[in-house]
Amino acid sequence: MPASSLTPNPTPPQLLLAPLRGLTDYILRGSLQHHLGGFDLGLAPFISTVERLGPRKARYLDDVLPRKNEYLPVIPQFLGNNPEQALRLCHELHQLGHREVNWNLGCPFAPVTRKRRGAGLLPHPELVAAFLGAFLPNSPVRLSVKVRLGLTDPDELFGLLPVLADHDLSSIILHPRTALQEYSGTVDLGRFEQVLAQCPHPVIYNGDLVDVAGFTGLLTRFGPLPGWMIGRGAIHDPTLAARIKGRTFDEAGRRLALETLHQDLSAAYLERYLTERMVLDRLKQLFRYLARNFEAEEEIFTRVKRCKELAPYTEEALRILREAPMKPLG
Ligand SMILES: Cc1cc2nc3c(=O)[nH]c(=O)nc-3n(C[C@H](O)[C@H](O)[C@H](O)COP(=O)(O)O)c2cc1C
Repeated sequence: MPASSLTPNPTPPQLLLAPLRGLTDYILRGSLQHHLGGFDLGLAPFISTVERLGPRKARYLDDVLPRKNEYLPVIPQFLGNNPEQALRLCHELHQLGHREVNWNLGCPFAPVTRKRRGAGLLPHPELVAAFLGAFLPNSPVRLSVKVRLGLTDPDELFGLLPVLADHDLSSIILHPRTALQEYSGTVDLGRFEQVLAQCPHPVIYNGDLVDVAGFTGLLTRFGPLPGWMIGRGAIHDPTLAARIKGRTFDEAGRRLALETLHQDLSAAYLERYLTERMVLDRLKQLFRYLARNFEAEEEIFTRVKRCKELAPYTEEALRILREAPMKPLG
């Protein structure tokens, strides 16, 4: 059964793997946790509540099946603004064994936000209140929310906090950027701190955690939060969560970790996907992140990007993982 909630103020810190749609499927989540460890919980990429029954929806539900997430318990996430649709999906997720689901209020992309979904709801506390009022009394699962500071204005979240405070939510995961910023600029730690002070719910930090020193700095500043969520940093440096938990890696250990993860994913994707082309695209997407472990990262990524077939790609990828000069770990 998936874990459904976090302990307040735990030691060691509780680390959550962030949802990265197109990357952190159950295969990657499981492989990362199995080979490197360090995470306590994963959040799955969003399932749209407007998704109709069909192969796409089946694939999303398959991704959160508890038996496929045995290495790392997973909390499913939905994206939508219609409580009836969300309840339908959450009943299906409950039947699969889930006891907690996350509501995506942070997706920054215009086709989503224009329809007042994702971060498009942040400037509309009245719509969020109406949703929660209709959803929560009928929900078979507990709800957490994943938010940004605002759609365009970093103070929008402060207008929403009283609404969130009025409802029984298991946690609030905050990525302290606006949707307008997408992933650019810096995270707003001052506003994160203000939200932390005002919010009665457990608040989980998310954004730009890429090295142990950065994590330690935030831990010193904010104190022991109930959870810390890491996304891109964990794909770029798959040892990061384990290192935050105290494991150490010398260069040989780090190379071995990257190679093991890469080869395990390659084998699992070959089993899952119908064509080598799909496997190749998936691995190249992963390598875009892994390349950052090496000096001359652009040149390294170009070397793998050029490969048009899986066999030469694998040869090139392994050569890099075994021999290319590495950047030091942060
Ligand atoms: C490629 C990509 C896909 C993402 N997919 C999702 C998603 O499905 N649901 C979600 O809540 N956030 C999604 N995010 C946002 C991340 O979960 C996270 O909030 C963001 O990347 C900041 O954390 P990080 O700096 O640790 O990566 C995505 C981000 C990226 C880059």
